[in-house]
Amino acid sequence: MRKVLLLAMVLCFVLAGTSFAFHDAGVADCAGCHTMHNSQDGTLVDPDSPDGNPWLLVDANPSDVCLSCHASRLGEVFGTDPLAPPRLIGAGNFAFLLEDNINDGHGGGDTLADGSWENAIPGAQGGHSIIAPSMGVGADPVLTAAPGGTFPASQLGCSSCHDPHGNTNFRMLYGATSVQDGLYTFTNAAPTAEGGPSLFFGGGESQTLHTGYQGGMSAWCGNCHGDFHNNNTKLIHPSGSTIGGSIATNYNLYNGTDAITGGVAASAYLAEVPFEDAANTATSTAGPTAASQVMCLTCHRAHATSAPDMGRWDFGVTLLHEDGDESGSYEIPDPYSSINQRSLCNKCHVKDVNDHLE
Ligand code: HEC
Ligand code: HEC
Ligand code: HEC
Ligand code: HEC
Ligand code: HEC
Ligand code: HEC
Repeated sequence: MRKVLLLAMVLCFVLAGTSFAFHDAGVADCAGCHTMHNSQDGTLVDPDSPDGNPWLLVDANPSDVCLSCHASRLGEVFGTDPLAPPRLIGAGNFAFLLEDNINDGHGGGDTLADGSWENAIPGAQGGHSIIAPSMGVGADPVLTAAPGGTFPASQLGCSSCHDPHGNTNFRMLYGATSVQDGLYTFTNAAPTAEGGPSLFFGGGESQTLHTGYQGGMSAWCGNCHGDFHNNNTKLIHPSGSTIGGSIATNYNLYNGTDAITGGVAASAYLAEVPFEDAANTATSTAGPTAASQVMCLTCHRAHATSAPDMGRWDFGVTLLHEDGDESGSYEIPDPYSSINQRSLCNKCHVKDVNDHLE
């Protein structure tokens, strides 16, 4: 394992010198991830698998191969300390899977006589539980398949969503194709979005630099989650549907609990509550029009967060500053930095009107 990491680090270093290109929107060099004889300079490339491993990978597990470069650099998708996560780019960090409790609702921090949590929601329920032995995480302890669909939790990894052999889609996400060596078939196209090099290599998500979601995300999540977006056939929250004039107006005026009509359309965009629109870019700041869409990532992040159900904010707290208080987990920053700020559902629904401010 150590050898592999060293090899990968050397490789990353070499790559860093050549303007960071590895996948280069296509198939990267095969040797970055595969070993033909599991042998180099007379030593095993993957010492954990003396007889080799199924896909001739440099590490037996596909996610571990990706994490050898992406855990603490090149996107830093899996930090080591869930209380001090790396910069946020868009997807959220798998470090939160390591938390023992992220329940900040009422009683979320209660303990039993022996000191153990009474109502713990473990970090695994705050994210996609990828199987990555190198980071000490495995299949989700509760869910055996994707809610709404059939994708098996026992097989979830980076290459369930990202094409290891590269493509020109946003973040190399799969389109309508067979995934993981034929394990499963996606029927919906990859989402369209913009997240340029300045976001990937820069300081992280802000109100002026963020993923510019353009279309197709709800259908894409639906590849595994079925009709979780189809509120024509089910009484569930719309996703992948137009938000309409009155909600667009709410969004554009809303500038936090303290200023529910204090905003203007030109600067109304809130990275914490994004919507899809063909006009969105990585630097756009305009709020939605009636034709913009509410979608899965309006409320969720794609990898993991320190809130249950991968919430972009904690759905279980009344005031955002209460996040982290009960459980001692990471407090998701409040974009409005106000002691009065309530749930970000209000960006579209303004139900904090007439609520008592504290
Ligand atoms: C970024 C890492 C990565 C790179 C680079 C890469 N592969 Fe793979 N490859 C994988 C992973 C991971 C799998 C296992 C199947 C999966 O999880 O999708 C795989 C599986 C395969 C398979 C068998 C199953 C399948 O999906 O067809 C073949 C053949 C293959 N790779 C060939 C190649 C060749 C040839 C190259 C270079 C042109 C290459 N790979 C580059 C990661 C990579
Ligand atoms: C040898 C190091 C290395 C390995 C292994 C590796 N990557 Fe990468 N990855 C990079 C580098 C360097 C970049 C940035 C430049 C680029 O896109 O080529 C990158 C970029 C990415 C991006 C962002 C691409 C974009 O255009 O926005 C994604 C997504 C990604 N990798 C996923 C994966 C997945 C999934 C795996 C495992 C199957 C993997 N990587 C394995 C080095 C690596
Ligand atoms: C490759 C299939 C796949 C895709 C694509 C996918 N998911 Fe999932 N998702 C799963 C599986 C499997 C589970 C159950 C195991 C787990 O929670 O890790 C899950 C669980 C979840 C959960 C519950 C997490 C928990 O532990 O309670 C949420 C929320 C979720 N997905 C949202 C999304 C969103 C939003 C998207 C699109 C950005 C998406 N998923 C795309 C497979 C997928
Ligand atoms: C359930 C699907 C899913 C899984 C599993 C998944 N990703 Fe992602 N990933 C996404 C989506 C969707 C985005 C774009 C998120 C956005 O911009 O809102 C993304 C973004 C990224 C990025 C860009 C940086 C960022 O944080 O936005 C990198 C790098 C990346 N993924 C690597 C990985 C690696 C490595 C793994 C495995 C350890 C992995 N992903 C597992 C769906 C997934
Ligand atoms: C308006 C905000 C919102 C949107 C949009 C949204 N979700 Fe959710 N999601 C939630 C909340 C809140 C929960 C917590 C459980 C609940 O309220 O049903 C949740 C829970 C989940 C779960 C966990 C279910 C379980 O049984 O544990 C999954 C999976 C999920 N969402 C996937 C999706 C997908 C896929 C989409 C897009 C098609 C989506 N969500 C769109 C707010 C949203
Ligand atoms: C990006 C905007 C947006 C966000 C954020 C949002 N919603 Fe919605 N919501 C909508 C739209 C659009 C509808 C459909 C409205 C309609 O048909 O009149 C809707 C409908 C609803 C309805 C049904 C109302 C009715 O009249 O039947 C409820 C309840 C609801 N949302 C709750 C929530 C909650 C709770 C959250 C936060 C977890 C949330 N919404 C976040 C846009 C949003």
